[in-house]
Amino acid sequence: MYAFIFELPNKPYLCKTKTKNMKIGICNDHAGVEYKFKLVKMLRRRGIEVVNFGTDTPDSVDYPDFAHRLASAVESGEVELGIALCGTGNGMAMTLNKHRGIRAGLAWNTAIGRLVAQHNNANVLVLPARFISYRLAAAIVREWLDTPFEGGRHQKRIDKIPCR
Ligand code: RB5
Repeated sequence: MYAFIFELPNKPYLCKTKTKNMKIGICNDHAGVEYKFKLVKMLRRRGIEVVNFGTDTPDSVDYPDFAHRLASAVESGEVELGIALCGTGNGMAMTLNKHRGIRAGLAWNTAIGRLVAQHNNANVLVLPARFISYRLAAAIVREWLDTPFEGGRHQKRIDKIPCR
């Protein structure tokens, strides 16, 4: 997942290859269908391979059924990162974060999209589809993809997340 390590003044950055040739999984419930299809197009234009683990129709479904599929794919390495969409984002985030190998972060603006990569090294980005515009959702995804994890004190903190 990590392509290389480079040094900025006093700051080693772990840099993810979050562009071409990477594989991202995406999942959604009925609230996220429209944004999912648009995001898939946007990601494919960036040369990213996208695997769809979500529902494709507006019929009511249960978000855990899709969140667990995406989480398992990230944990097994089938995909490197994931994006999840539901109405508020909370159902997806709660379910995804039950998985030991997942750090799912909910973001509703671009600053949080950047920080969830830089500080939390989120391997799944969760978006509240009913509360943000598609334009903002796409901007958050780009920010998350383009921001490297800072490591250092943040690595120490995320190492303490799993229950003992
Ligand atoms: C579906 O109506 C809604 O409950 C779901 O998308 C999500 O917001 C749950 O957290």
